Amino acid sequence: MLNRRFLIANPVFTATGETVGEALRQYCRLPEVIVSLLLAAHAHFPRRSGVAKELARNVGQESGLGTAGIPHVEILKLGLSRDLGINASAVEGNEATEAFIAALREGMSRNASFALGQAFALEASAVPELSQVVGPAINAYARFVGRPEPIAAEALREDGIYPLPKLRSKAQARAMPMSDWFALHVKDFEVGHRDLLRVHAKMFLQRNGDVEEFQSGFNNVLDLMDTWWLALAQA
Ligand SMILES: [Fe+2]
Ligand SMILES: [Fe+2]
Repeated sequence: MLNRRFLIANPVFTATGETVGEALRQYCRLPEVIVSLLLAAHAHFPRRSGVAKELARNVGQESGLGTAGIPHVEILKLGLSRDLGINASAVEGNEATEAFIAALREGMSRNASFALGQAFALEASAVPELSQVVGPAINAYARFVGRPEPIAAEALREDGIYPLPKLRSKAQARAMPMSDWFALHVKDFEVGHRDLLRVHAKMFLQRNGDVEEFQSGFNNVLDLMDTWWLALAQA
């Protein structure tokens, strides 16, 4: 998975500054819809199953449990606006973005194993996508507009040393530095989503899942991501 083009040689890094800025706005559509996608996968599983419980825990985090009730996507958008002057408050997805989301949604409706493969691909790709693509693209765009790079290198390494913030208020969550947001995701939230879903997916597949469908769902997401990022870099 780590050798996918969108992760190791994302064409966005050879795009113009304006294109990178718009790609970052378009990227916000993914964290915007992630909860509804995970819930669509969740709907295939009995509520008390390990998979359902883990997906529900994940959705709770994305919705603000642990960040003083502020959804992660909202904090990201505030950072983009504050640090880069990118207005992502109401992003209208372009054709490639909406085709990407529609294909993900369609996949979530197929069957439990395919949907779970898709959910696992979304979670397993989050750390490399954030640390190797989105974070560096934010810093690149900052250089382009002549602002300080908002994300520290250590915040983008799963094993890097970076103290994670303790959030006590909504105001503090909204004002979270981009480095903190990325460090929380790359070292904590997305690591948990990936590792715990892997454990529960494995147990489901051993009992009554369809491994081939799971694999197809997994590959489908990575294919869609390759296509999407290629389109964003050319827009
Ligand atoms: Fe998140
Ligand atoms: Fe996640």
